[in-house]
Amino acid sequence: MSKSSRAPAARSRAGGPLTGTARAPGDKSISHRSMIFGAMASGTTTVTGLLEGDDIMATAGAMRAFGADITRGDDGLWTVKGVGNAGLSEPAGEIDCGNAGTGVRLIMGAASAYPITATYIGDASLSVRPMGRVVNPLREMGVTAKGAPGDRLPMTITGTPDLKPLRYAPPQASAQVKSAILLAGLGAKGVTEVREAHKTRDHTENMLRAFGCPVDTLDDGDGQIVRLTGPAPLTGTHVIVPGDPSSAAFLIVAALIVPGSDIIIENVMMNPTRTGLFETLTEMGGYIQADNFKTSGGEVIADIRVRHSKLHGITVPPRRAPSMIDEYPVLCMAAAVASGETVMEGIEELRVKESDRIAATVAILQSAGVAVRETKTGMIVTGSPAPRGGGFVTTHHDHRIAMSALILGLACKQPMEIDDAAMIATSFPEFFSMMQQLGADIKVTSV
Ligand code: S3P
Repeated sequence: MSKSSRAPAARSRAGGPLTGTARAPGDKSISHRSMIFGAMASGTTTVTGLLEGDDIMATAGAMRAFGADITRGDDGLWTVKGVGNAGLSEPAGEIDCGNAGTGVRLIMGAASAYPITATYIGDASLSVRPMGRVVNPLREMGVTAKGAPGDRLPMTITGTPDLKPLRYAPPQASAQVKSAILLAGLGAKGVTEVREAHKTRDHTENMLRAFGCPVDTLDDGDGQIVRLTGPAPLTGTHVIVPGDPSSAAFLIVAALIVPGSDIIIENVMMNPTRTGLFETLTEMGGYIQADNFKTSGGEVIADIRVRHSKLHGITVPPRRAPSMIDEYPVLCMAAAVASGETVMEGIEELRVKESDRIAATVAILQSAGVAVRETKTGMIVTGSPAPRGGGFVTTHHDHRIAMSALILGLACKQPMEIDDAAMIATSFPEFFSMMQQLGADIKVTSV
């Protein structure tokens, strides 16, 4: 969308039950990695099931600017011809990562071991997100980085072939930080190691192995250590992208909260580092049944049946946060119709996502007349069976805030509206058509 055109608003309201079958869109985390790892590798990587969302297109564009040849076939098969031994080349212009924190942070790590300079930029949301968490360990490894105040974008980074390996324990649970360091470590001579107090999503480890780089993972009771030895060249492979549990989450919560609903979502990745929401909703009384388990592309996938359920509030264990970190906003929409209190603490990382997701989620709930208390590190929601609704929500360039507000509208007395639906295309371009096909009364209202 051009800057001068009006943002597409959208609204949702209560209607009939959701029924039928939908297929979860490709996983965003694995899609980003397929483009980045494929671009670094020697030979050809082919990708099926890629999420063709704006975030991934920005990452593909970035990796083209670093020298990879990335194309899409008419059959939806993506081909990445990597730079291999030639190494990434210096991009001619700025690298625009759009809205994607995963894209920019992983690419910064991936480019660190090359003697090239790149300037990274992003949209209004990405430009205020902290990059120091990635850039500081990369500086320890030897890169030079200069960003806007507070280590924000725009950020210019010069890499070095003399990159030093690093042993690092990130202060926050972050797969992006872990991944950036490991990707830099591929080009550093020696052992690079990340110690995680709480295990985060493990796609980088799994996929690096598939691209031919041995990665050791050791659980030592105090968390885990992930370790690789550089230099470690990558070799192109075939990637099958499973369905995204974080996108399926919106369909799941919608079916749980709309009376009479009964849906099946196919092809959902069941990697335990990503399924904390399913566990939480089940503990709240939700009917969520996984069936037809298969292994595809190294990940377990399943079909999930969800039926409308009477939910009750619970205390979500903080240790579960890394396995559902993107799902708290939509969990709160389920909590809004659950009986009693849902207590979520230890989720301060939400404050530095595409928006401050604690503040933005609290604002959705308040606009719909739902009782909520914001704390420093979380929130407490007190639900009721049919919230008033009628809210107008500012989405702050955040796709998950936009979708969450629209899901809540399906269970409220009055419609919910959002100011800007454009960001939904970053992670879930088929959101509106899929929701409508399942029977939801949800639509874009202006463009
Ligand atoms: C992601 C990691 C998470 C998550 C993001 C995707 C990834 O971010 O919120 O949507 O693909 O590595 P953090 O690492 O900042 O927690």
